[in-house]
Amino acid sequence: MTACIVGWSHGKFGKLDSETSESLVVKAATEAIAHAGIEPKDIDVIYVGNMNGGFVRQEFHSSLALQAHPDLRFKPSTRVENACATGSAAIHMGLNTLAAKKARFVLVVGVEKMTELNSAQAGDVLIKASYVAEEANIEAGFAGIFGKITSAYFQRYGDKSDALAKIAVKAHKNGAKNPYAHFQKEFAYDFCRNPSDKNPFVAGPLKRTDCSPVTDGAAAVVLADVSTALGMKQAIAFRAAEHVNDFLPMSRRDIIKFEGPQLAWQRALAAARLDLLDLSFVESHDCFTSAELIEYEAMGLAVPGEGERAIHEGWVERDGKLPVNISGGLKAKGHPVGATGVSMHVMSAMQLSGTAPEGLQLSKARLGGVFNMGGAAVANYVSILEPLR
Ligand code: COA
Repeated sequence: MTACIVGWSHGKFGKLDSETSESLVVKAATEAIAHAGIEPKDIDVIYVGNMNGGFVRQEFHSSLALQAHPDLRFKPSTRVENACATGSAAIHMGLNTLAAKKARFVLVVGVEKMTELNSAQAGDVLIKASYVAEEANIEAGFAGIFGKITSAYFQRYGDKSDALAKIAVKAHKNGAKNPYAHFQKEFAYDFCRNPSDKNPFVAGPLKRTDCSPVTDGAAAVVLADVSTALGMKQAIAFRAAEHVNDFLPMSRRDIIKFEGPQLAWQRALAAARLDLLDLSFVESHDCFTSAELIEYEAMGLAVPGEGERAIHEGWVERDGKLPVNISGGLKAKGHPVGATGVSMHVMSAMQLSGTAPEGLQLSKARLGGVFNMGGAAVANYVSILEPLR
């Protein structure tokens, strides 16, 4: 255990027409520093997680964090990018900085402003997170990539559309209780299961309700080394933090095995000396419902081809043996790419400190797992978190 989250903030996710990525960064940074109970001058190093790639014209984001307070001027700040795992990548940079004893306090902000573009234009940006040389001509943007993965999974293991619809229902049921979520309403099973005008097919077997939305938002954490954290009012420790990158081309992998996510989970659980079911909950990267289904297998909850049992038998429901995405996940909470990994850590920190919003808080939350994924199982980050005391 080398570091802790000692402060955090989470803005409302959604289509935020009156915000810019600058205003989102400033608000998230200001609130996280205040929540940690420190002053802006105490921050030693800053990382800003932002994918961009054309969502907004402002590409260079690192110093936008300095707009939060004059005392942040001259602090070293770097923008970090690792596709949809950008937020966790920025957190890992912070952990490495603390491990190298280059800082006592690190501010990490994750942000994405996606809705200045329409869905088709956003898809053109998101497809850049594929192996462009072979995969970028696929239709429907990144949904097309997961449409292909889902079809391959169905071909090997049979049609799992019932399970995907139940995963969507679970996400929206949980998201309805999350005041930060993009969508705060429940969706009926029949609506998610059956294609309709309001729920058309988007790519392969994936319908609109199988996809995370295009969302604006930001979240931030303040990290500190353990001895510093011992003196703070709240401290959520990293019991493990593992990062595994796989080859980018899907043609070089058995794509439905999610081997990178599996290895990241195995390494994290081994480092933490825990079994998966020791965890009180997992926040997992459900960019598409089929991603969550395959992740049940990658994390070791079900054997390959049987991920559907986790949802059919209720294991991953709020009151199940391993609740997955009690925040509503990317599906309901939204997926502002650069903010997502930070958001997952903030939602987990809230659970573990007993400060999650009413209706969202689990009665017993001792250990939380976070899995954040960039690209199609390419950049894989697992964190295991627990209260420091
Ligand atoms: N799930 C459920 N409902 C959604 C939704 C989603 N993902 N996206 C939009 N909606 C709803 C809207 O709220 C709106 O509802 P309303 O008519 O009641 O107001 C309606 O659907 C139409 O919204 P619109 O934005 O026009 O939909 P769209 O068809 O243009 O976009 C997707 C839907 C699924 C194509 C788009 O959200 C998308 O591209 N998602 C994937 C993003 C992605 O690839 N992220 C990276 C993953 S790695």
